[in-house]
Amino acid sequence: MNAQLRVPAASLGGSVSLGGELTVNRLGFGAMRITGEGVWGPPKNHAGALAVLRRAVELGVNFIDTADSYGPGVSEELIAEALFPYPKDLVIATKGGWNRPAPGQWTHDASPAHLRKAIEGSLKRLRLERIDLYQLHHPDPITPFDDSVGTLAEMRRQGKIRLVGLSNVTREHIERAQKIVPIVSVQNRYSFADREWDSVVDYCQQHGIAFIPWFPLGAGKAPDKALNQIAEVHHTHPFQVALSWLLQRSPVMLPIPGTSSVEHLEENLAAGALRLTADEFRQLQETKR
Ligand SMILES: NC(=O)c1ccc[n+]([C@@H]2O[C@H](COP(=O)([O-])OP(=O)(O)OC[C@H]3O[C@@H](n4cnc5c(N)ncnc54)[C@H](OP(=O)(O)O)[C@@H]3O)[C@@H](O)[C@H]2O)c1
Repeated sequence: MNAQLRVPAASLGGSVSLGGELTVNRLGFGAMRITGEGVWGPPKNHAGALAVLRRAVELGVNFIDTADSYGPGVSEELIAEALFPYPKDLVIATKGGWNRPAPGQWTHDASPAHLRKAIEGSLKRLRLERIDLYQLHHPDPITPFDDSVGTLAEMRRQGKIRLVGLSNVTREHIERAQKIVPIVSVQNRYSFADREWDSVVDYCQQHGIAFIPWFPLGAGKAPDKALNQIAEVHHTHPFQVALSWLLQRSPVMLPIPGTSSVEHLEENLAAGALRLTADEFRQLQETKR
């Protein structure tokens, strides 16, 4: 990998702190789409998946989001295959507690026994001794939330995890979890087209917690008219406008657009250099409210 090719943080939307311990560029990469169709099994194009990961890092991405359930196991294994030994500044954030037993099926298990086993599995697949950021993928309707978070705190004390994050949570979950262990990131569904978790973004900003929007491109669905109009003015792709809007929405925003294509990756990362005018931002901000 040619380090000279890596771009400065400013070109990837500046940087964001994870709990004051780690700092990453604000445009990250979501590694769910590098698996097989339906987030199941190996990718059709194995070399292509490795190329996407390597190109992301080459272009300055130093935050990669994955989960044990992507594949399952496949996304984590591909990350290790493509990038191990890892660049010093690369933060790999994985998740557990929401499983993929068969194609199209998601089942909850954030019990202490399962989380302990899941963390050992992720450590092995990622070839790590400690996971920089481990996120509870989803609160479990059966296991008490405090028990799931308490297990992550315990694994942190044991040195298996460096930092703890949450996913698919409310503000109440974050406040409860903070009483058990410092929470450095929250990953909820959020995009230009989907602002359900606006109040959680604001809460994270107030408390210096990184907010990681999943489906930042609305899962790749046809972009909104308002995005298309502004993209035309900037001679760019509407998804770049969507990402730029996210970056301008909050300084704690850490988008992780997902793709299986080097071309799309490069397009998405170029959004870090796109600045919307105050009027454009306001127009987009008000479009969906
Ligand atoms: N915490 C959770 O519960 C949760 C849930 C879902 C996802 N996630 C995380 O969030 C990440 C992002 O979500 P996501 O990948 O599902 O959705 P996304 O980033 O909103 O959209 C990805 C989709 O958009 C397409 N795409 C990407 N860039 C494009 C471009 N420049 N032009 C045209 N199409 C483009 C991709 O297809 P191509 O492959 O063809 O580019 C893919 O189908 C995931 O990778 C995962 O890490 C977390």
